[in-house]
Amino acid sequence: MSDWEIAKKIATESLEYGKTLIKKDSLVLDICEKVEGKIRELGGKPAFPVNVSINRVAAHYTALPNDQTKLNNGDLVKIDVGVHVNGAIGDVAGSVDLGENKELVMAAQEALKSVKSLIKPGIELREIGRKIQKTIQDYGFSPIKNLSGHELGLYKVHAGMTIPNYDNGDTTKLEKGQHIAIEPFATNGEGKVVEGKESGIYRLERVKPVRDFGARKVIKFIQEEYKELPFAQRWIVKKFPHGNYILRLLEKEKIVKHYPQLVEISKGLVSQAETSFTV
Ligand code: CO
Repeated sequence: MSDWEIAKKIATESLEYGKTLIKKDSLVLDICEKVEGKIRELGGKPAFPVNVSINRVAAHYTALPNDQTKLNNGDLVKIDVGVHVNGAIGDVAGSVDLGENKELVMAAQEALKSVKSLIKPGIELREIGRKIQKTIQDYGFSPIKNLSGHELGLYKVHAGMTIPNYDNGDTTKLEKGQHIAIEPFATNGEGKVVEGKESGIYRLERVKPVRDFGARKVIKFIQEEYKELPFAQRWIVKKFPHGNYILRLLEKEKIVKHYPQLVEISKGLVSQAETSFTV
């Protein structure tokens, strides 16, 4: 098995485990840490912090340090798991409904299933998008147009190409050997996300000299441990007692970027399904 296949296998197993933890009163912090523990136990490393995004939050949320958020009856919960093995990435996600939104969960799942047979060299990206859009619309929902699937590269979650969730007219063709993640998002809202509150997810943007000794240590740690992969505020705070202060400093210096949550603009509920492929 290649590192890509191993990463996908570990991600899929960890996602399935994560889904079993999604129930009323579960702490989001526990879910994130347990799934990240599972990834390591299976021999991988997180390619990004486990994302647990609830209801109208479509993506980009991981538990903050000491996060007390609990799941409630009625919640629609997305869990997005990324694993890397020597930089090769598996990126998978699913949704669990704790309420009355089974159809919305189905719409994203079926949209993903509907394009599996299309994933081969020579297919135009717009064709994949068109199929996803049609499947979601047949359920009476909308795809989120400004979220898309993406190419995966070594230590790069978003490398090169993006794969649309609607027919955006892109006639670029898939090529043999490409690694891609396809991730339909379905919503009963308008179908667009905007930036929301802090996500607890950071990424190294550019390295430049800083005077603060602690900050230099943190930069070195990020470079060695995560390279350009996203990482959690939690992970830094666990390792460095002044982690929060240093992250704020690095953010101000534009050395790291803090991702915002991505929230459905009309407060629609959002479901997601995702898996990775090698073309
Ligand atoms: Co993805």
